[in-house]
Amino acid sequence: MRLGSIILTVALCSFTAYYIYEPIPEEIDERWKLMLTNSFFRSLSHLADFSELLGLKDYMGVMYFITLAEKVVPVSDEHVEVIEEKFDGVEVLLYQPKHRSDDTELRRAVIYLHGGGWCLGSSRMGPYDLLARNMATELGAVVLSVEYRLAPPHHFPIPYEDVYHVVKHFLQKQVLAQYSVDPGRIAVAGDSAGGNLAAAVSQQLQKEPGQQIKFKAQALLYPVLQALDLYTPSYQQNQDMPILPRTLMVRFWSEYFTSNKALFRAMMANTHNNPESSSLLKFVNWSNFLPETYHRKYNYSAPAVLQGLGGEAAEMDGPSRSFADPRASPLLVPDSALRSLPKAYILTCEYDVLRDDGIMYATRLRAAGVEVTHEHYDAGFHGALMFTVWPTDFLIAHHMTDNYIKWLKENL
Ligand SMILES: *[C@@H]1O[C@H](CO)[C@@H](O)[C@H](O)[C@H]1NC(C)=O
Ligand SMILES: *[C@@H]1O[C@H](CO)[C@@H](O)[C@H](O)[C@H]1NC(C)=O
Repeated sequence: MRLGSIILTVALCSFTAYYIYEPIPEEIDERWKLMLTNSFFRSLSHLADFSELLGLKDYMGVMYFITLAEKVVPVSDEHVEVIEEKFDGVEVLLYQPKHRSDDTELRRAVIYLHGGGWCLGSSRMGPYDLLARNMATELGAVVLSVEYRLAPPHHFPIPYEDVYHVVKHFLQKQVLAQYSVDPGRIAVAGDSAGGNLAAAVSQQLQKEPGQQIKFKAQALLYPVLQALDLYTPSYQQNQDMPILPRTLMVRFWSEYFTSNKALFRAMMANTHNNPESSSLLKFVNWSNFLPETYHRKYNYSAPAVLQGLGGEAAEMDGPSRSFADPRASPLLVPDSALRSLPKAYILTCEYDVLRDDGIMYATRLRAAGVEVTHEHYDAGFHGALMFTVWPTDFLIAHHMTDNYIKWLKENL
C-alpha cells in the first residue's frame, strides 16, 4: 500500500509535468495503468542517472528504492508459518503450510529466486511474499525464498553461489526430513534474473558428483539466459517497452559482472564479444532457434567480435569477461549438457526484451529431449507477475500466477 501511494503521487506529478504519453502497443490490456506505473519507474531511473552524474549516489543505489518501498515483514498467518533461516550462511525465508491431512505425509518443495536484475529485489517484497504464500497454500508445498546477495556490491559469481549453496544445503536427506519434504518432488523457480539463477543451478546440479537428490522440475518465468547477443529481435522490438527497457537490462547485465562502465558501453553497442566468447555464439543464433514467426522483419547478423584488445575492449577488466560463463548465461552450453535437465516450464512475454532468450531455451531444451511447457503471453510485458497488489494490480498478473501454479500442481 505504501508503494501504491508513492507510485500514485510520483506518477501523477511526472505524468502532468513531462510524461504525458508513451506509445504502448494496443494489444496490452490496461494500457493507461501501465503507462502511469511505468512513468514512476522512468522518473526514478532519470533521478538515478542524475544522482550518479552529480556523484551523490550510484544508479543502482537509487533504483534500490523500488525494493525498499515494497518491503514487508513476512509474518505467519492462519495458513502459513513463515520463519527466517540461514542455510550455509545465506538468508532464506521458509514458508510452511499449516494444514496437513496427515502428519506423516511428505510435502512438495519449491526453491524460489526473486527477480530484479541481480541488483534489485528481495524475497521480502510484498509481491514475492504473496506469491510464496500462494504456492505454499495451493501446492501444500514448503517454499524457500532465497535472499541472495546483490550486485553491484556483490558481483558475479556471488549471487549465483549464494543460491547454489542454499540448493546444496537443502537437498540433503536429513534437511529435507526436518521439513517433511519429499526428495522426489522439489522444484526450482524464479522470475527474470531469478529465472537465470534457477536455470543455472539446475545445470550445475546435474554435474555435481555424488549428488543423489535432484530437481523434479524447473520453472523459468520470463528468464534472462544469455549475455552474448543483446540485439535479438525481441531486444530490438521492445527496446523502449515499459518496466524493462533495453538500457536497463544492459545495465543489469554489466553491473552483474563489474562496475567498470566500459562493459556497459560495449554491451549497449553489442560489441562486447571477444574471440573466446565468439565460439559460443552458435548457441544463441536466433536464426536457428526462433520459430519463423518471430523472425519478422529482422535479419540475422552475428554480433561483432573484437579481435585483439583495441578501443573499448582494452579497458575491460577481468570480471567483464565472465559474461560467457554458463553459470551466468545458461544458454551457452552444448546440447549434451541439456539432455539430463529436469522438465521445464518457460513463460515468455511478447513485449519483453528477454522474450527470445526464453524461446531459444525452450527450443534447445526440446531438441535435447527435455519435456518443456512453453507459455507465451501475446499481451504480456516484462515483470507483469510483480503487479498483483493494488493499485498497480494487473489482470494479466493474476492470470500468469494461476497458470504457473497450475503447472506446478500437475507436474511437481
Ligand atoms: C547463424 O545461423 C545462420 C543460419 O543457419 C548461419 O548462416 C550463420 O553462419 C550462423 N552464425 C553463427 C555466428 O552461428
Ligand atoms: C532483410 O533481408 C531482406 C532480403 O535480403 C531485405 O530485403 C530486407 O530489407 C532486410 N531487412 C532488414 C531490416 O535489413
